Amino acid sequence: PAGDIADLVRSRIRDVADYPKPGIVFKDITPLLADPSAFQSTVEALGSPWLGASPAVDKVVGIEARGFILAAPVALALGAGFVPVRKAGKLPSAVLSRSYALEYGEATLQVHRDAFAPGERVLVVDDVLATGGTVEATTSLIREAGAEVVGVSVLLELAFLAGRARLEGQDGFDVRALL
Ligand code: PRP
Repeated sequence: PAGDIADLVRSRIRDVADYPKPGIVFKDITPLLADPSAFQSTVEALGSPWLGASPAVDKVVGIEARGFILAAPVALALGAGFVPVRKAGKLPSAVLSRSYALEYGEATLQVHRDAFAPGERVLVVDDVLATGGTVEATTSLIREAGAEVVGVSVLLELAFLAGRARLEGQDGFDVRALL
C-alpha cells in the first residue's frame, strides 16, 4: 500500500542540517540505497504506475547524479531504455542544453540530440522535486529532442517549494512522489 512505501522511504532518508550551505536541510538518500529491501521496494514503487502501460514507456530519463541511481533500475523494471540528462560538458556527442536555477546555485543540463526516436514516450525519474527547476529543464529538453513526457516519478517532493505548481504549465503528464 502507498502508506507503507511512504513510511519506508521516510524511515530511510536522513536530514542533514546546513548542507551544502547554512540554512539548507539536505535529504540524504544513502541510507535507503544501502538497504537492499528498501531499495528494491522503492524502485518498484517509482515505476509501478507505468508498469504494463499501453502504449509502453520507451525510455526512462535519469537526472545526474542521484537520479541515475534510481532511474536505471526503474528502466529495467519497465523494459525501457535508459537516457542520461547530464550537467554541462559531460556528454560526448551533439547535445541540447537548458540553463536553470536550483534551490541553491545555477546549472546547465544537457541531453544527446539523438537520445530519442520521434514520439517516444518518456518517464523522468529523480530523487527530489524541490523548486522544480531541474525537472522543468529536463522535460523541456525531452520535448525539444522530439519525445513525449508521460510522467515524472520522484522519491520525495518538498511541497513547500512548489515544484509541482511550476510543472503544471506543461500539460499532459502525471507527477508522482512516494513521499
Ligand atoms: C538535486 C536533486 C534534484 C534537484 C532538485 O540535484 O537531486 O535533481 O536538486 O532541485 P530543484 O527541484 O529545485 O531543481 P543536484 O543538483 O544537487 O545534483 P546531484 O544529484 O548531482 O547532487
